[in-house]
Amino acid sequence: MSKRIEADDVDIYYGKFKAVEGVTMTIEPRSVTAFIGPSGCGKTTFLRSINRMHEVIPGAYVDGKITLDGDNIYDPGVDPVTVRGLVGMVFQRPNPFPTMSIRDNVLAGYKINGRRLAKSDADDLVERSLRGANLWEEVKDRLDRPGSGLSGGQQQRLCIARTVAVNPKVILMDEPCSALDPISTLAIEDLIRELKEDYTIVIVTHNMQQAARVSDVTAFFNIEGTGKPGKLIEMGPTEKIFSTPDVRATEDYITGRFG
Ligand SMILES: Nc1ncnc2c1ncn2[C@@H]1O[C@H](COP(=O)(O)OP(=O)(O)O)[C@@H](O)[C@H]1O
Ligand SMILES: [Mg+2]
Repeated sequence: MSKRIEADDVDIYYGKFKAVEGVTMTIEPRSVTAFIGPSGCGKTTFLRSINRMHEVIPGAYVDGKITLDGDNIYDPGVDPVTVRGLVGMVFQRPNPFPTMSIRDNVLAGYKINGRRLAKSDADDLVERSLRGANLWEEVKDRLDRPGSGLSGGQQQRLCIARTVAVNPKVILMDEPCSALDPISTLAIEDLIRELKEDYTIVIVTHNMQQAARVSDVTAFFNIEGTGKPGKLIEMGPTEKIFSTPDVRATEDYITGRFG
């Protein structure tokens, strides 16, 4: 189910502005990779290039190659919609459709992709996805109530259920806990550890404890100054990056000396 991601010399632009330069990395299946680094260093930009979301911004484009199990997602002829089905995304602020029921929120991504489902298949998919997101027990008696009635942490798990329902190979999460309280944050972290059994997971986080707790591998991005592109500075096993990084800037960032 889970796929390997390889980026080869990826540059990412907003019009003439090069926001990210020269990223080469491999992300292993069934693992959690954390992207860390100061604001503006291109973490979100790079993350969005992994599911071809970057290019939806007018003038924005990606130069280089990103493969999923060897297939270049930027090959001409590859449909970005297909890529977005393989590579799901969870955002900073939980964004369920507020007036839609919990059930319909889970099915929303599936329906957007134009697929139809028999009622019993839909029921199965809703239950499986909500169980997969550790939310089923909390909502099984109110599936027809609006998604906006849930707490922030539950809404974020609902968004994860919506992502999982599409049956992706990779799940990208951009600071998924930044709007959540500590208890909800730990619930999401538990869930991430479970999800990595089935998916390749990439998580952007500004929380160093979180990166240390949930990730197997950490990638540190940095920027030399305003207007300069962000770059991947160092990537390795989280234990190593947090104890004996090779680069001084990584150590400075992790120990809170800047950023
Ligand atoms: N829509 C956009 N248009 C132009 N520049 C952008 C846009 N979004 C982000 N940027 C710029 O790209 C750079 C990287 O931003 P971003 O990827 O959001 O960084 P991070 O997620 O690490 O904080 C920043 O200089 C930011 O201002
Ligand atoms: Mg960001």
